[in-house]
Amino acid sequence: MATDVVVLAAGKGTRMKSSLPKVLHCLAGRPLLQHVVDAANSLQTPRVIIVTGHESDKVRSEIKGTDLCYVEQQLQLGTAHAVQQALPLVRCDATVLILYGDVPLIQPDTIQAMVDLAADGSLVLLTAVLDDPSGYGRIIRNSAKAVTAIVEQKDATPEQLGICEVNTGVLALPAAKLKNWLPAIDNNNAQQEYYLTDIIALAHEDNCKIKTSQPLFPQEIEGVNNRSQLSRLERYYQRQYSERLMMAGITIADPDRLDVRGKLTAGTDNFIDINVLFEGNVDLGNNIHIGPNCVIIDSCIGDGVEIKANSIVEGSMIGPGCVVGPFARLRTGTEMAENAKIGNFVETKKSILGKGTKINHLSYVGDASLGANVNVGAGTITCNYDGVNKYQTVIGDNAFIGSNTSLVAPVNIGKDATVGAGSTITCNVADDELGLTRAEQRNIQGWKRPTKKIHPSSN
Ligand code: UD1
Ligand code: CA
Repeated sequence: MATDVVVLAAGKGTRMKSSLPKVLHCLAGRPLLQHVVDAANSLQTPRVIIVTGHESDKVRSEIKGTDLCYVEQQLQLGTAHAVQQALPLVRCDATVLILYGDVPLIQPDTIQAMVDLAADGSLVLLTAVLDDPSGYGRIIRNSAKAVTAIVEQKDATPEQLGICEVNTGVLALPAAKLKNWLPAIDNNNAQQEYYLTDIIALAHEDNCKIKTSQPLFPQEIEGVNNRSQLSRLERYYQRQYSERLMMAGITIADPDRLDVRGKLTAGTDNFIDINVLFEGNVDLGNNIHIGPNCVIIDSCIGDGVEIKANSIVEGSMIGPGCVVGPFARLRTGTEMAENAKIGNFVETKKSILGKGTKINHLSYVGDASLGANVNVGAGTITCNYDGVNKYQTVIGDNAFIGSNTSLVAPVNIGKDATVGAGSTITCNVADDELGLTRAEQRNIQGWKRPTKKIHPSSN
């Protein structure tokens, strides 16, 4: 059966104190609403209908997913009113699942279980038993333990306030029933809002079976209203991510000092030191050692690689056995074949390093292709940019580039060629040649350095 997911995301989020709509604030590098949409997209044949309010254009342009549609709720008159806006897009034969754009950690397994339970025409509520239920709607059950209604905190009697089973807001039910009941809801309550929760009593009156199901962990149903709550969910998410990595065979120096904003896939026997950040899609092989304070973004790292402290690696492919850092910056398009080395204070961009090639210190190599076993001396710069265009530098196998060399691209250095230290190379150097542009040294005998004149009065 098809599932239509309605995501409520019209709230202003005043307590975030932000010009950004609340649901676009990020958890683990992804907007809150994106987490919810991704969970919804994990269901079979979902259509995801997002109810937006303020700044809906911004929301639309940020959120990605399959079969997404948007409806606008101009005035926030309550959760039932919000769902009402989505009804025209809900397919009559679907199961409808209601989710919230500011409840980001809802799990695919939890919502799949609810959709399955609703397949027989039941209404399914996600409920939780909390030590402190304040603020939440309370689940009312009769003597046979059947759910008969939900009462909001502000409308509850003192006796009802003592109930610890709460409404998480998440529910699933057949579309046809939702379309029947929703118009019957009024705003005759303490907040003068149209409460979606009022459909529970309507379902009970209609003898519709009401089932309840529970989340896997309490944070799954926590909403974000302010930045403090956001940070708590962020830490929970990151800690869980670290736990999964450790169970999969990765040693993490401190699981509270590792952040993954995206997806990290990894083999075994990797070691990750403190304060490491992964972003986007990162793939690690086996036996990799990552030193402290590294940032690794959208990269693929081969077996046995060592990335030393304080290195930044982005959009790069690092082959097996390579060594990077400390303090290296690999920018997009850096590809290192096996056993290559990029050392301290080296920046690379769109550059290919052949097997065993080394750029050990203080260099910039951009738009370059280096063969195998090339040695690039300290302070080598590829001058790849004339202010308008970018040009290539090509260096053959076993070439030796002396320290403090400027390679003015486009330029080719041949195989086994040598460039003398301090050269500015503007013409190609052929295989086995020495290229040298160094001015000849002059020594001046008896040269006296200027000396400071000392006046007695100034002492
Ligand atoms: C709601 C439930 C309550 C439950 C709680 C769980 C109702 C009436 N109450 O209360 O039983 O315990 O969630 O957190 O449903 N929204 C809109 N448009 C509106 C109103 C709300 O999009 O007109 C969105 C909000 O942005 C928010 C969500 O719906 O993300 C919940 O609305 P809110 O008013 O905060 O409901 P609660 O009072 O928390
Ligand atoms: Ca409310």
